[in-house]
Amino acid sequence: MLSGRVKPHSSQYGGRVPLQRRLLLGLFCAFSAVLSACGGTEVVLPDDADEQIVEGFEIYKAHCARCHGQDGGGGIGLSLQLIEDRLSDDEQREVVERGRKRMPTFGTKLTSDEIDAVVRFTREIL
Ligand code: HEC
Repeated sequence: MLSGRVKPHSSQYGGRVPLQRRLLLGLFCAFSAVLSACGGTEVVLPDDADEQIVEGFEIYKAHCARCHGQDGGGGIGLSLQLIEDRLSDDEQREVVERGRKRMPTFGTKLTSDEIDAVVRFTREIL
């Protein structure tokens, strides 16, 4: 008797739940598509990467990837791939330390060693 009463109700609402789930799933997919389009694929370090490169990679992921892309392919910020062909080590350090237009200043947020590490990472790995 009871289950006979519950059933029509659950089938009444039954149609809505999967629809909501489908919408949520759709939103989630759209969101991750946007994220991966902006972010690129995360870089995999070579097995022989030394400590400074590993540190640079961590700093890059924490401070730079959101604008320059996980793989350095660019986004809000310019592409950093093959940056070593466009800027000298010193020029690159200067941009990171002082910032430039919409590129934030990192001289006050990162230590000199951290800037060395992230600059080396972008030049040698991206
Ligand atoms: C808020 C976004 C943002 C973040 C975070 C950011 N950048 Fe940038 N970056 C930019 C933009 C925008 C430019 C281009 C500046 C210009 O137009 O002159 C740029 C330019 C650069 C350049 C010069 C590229 C060239 O071809 O001249 C370097 C090098 C650089 N960023 C490195 C970094 C590093 C390393 C980090 C992390 C420590 C970082 N950026 C974090 C936005 C960002």
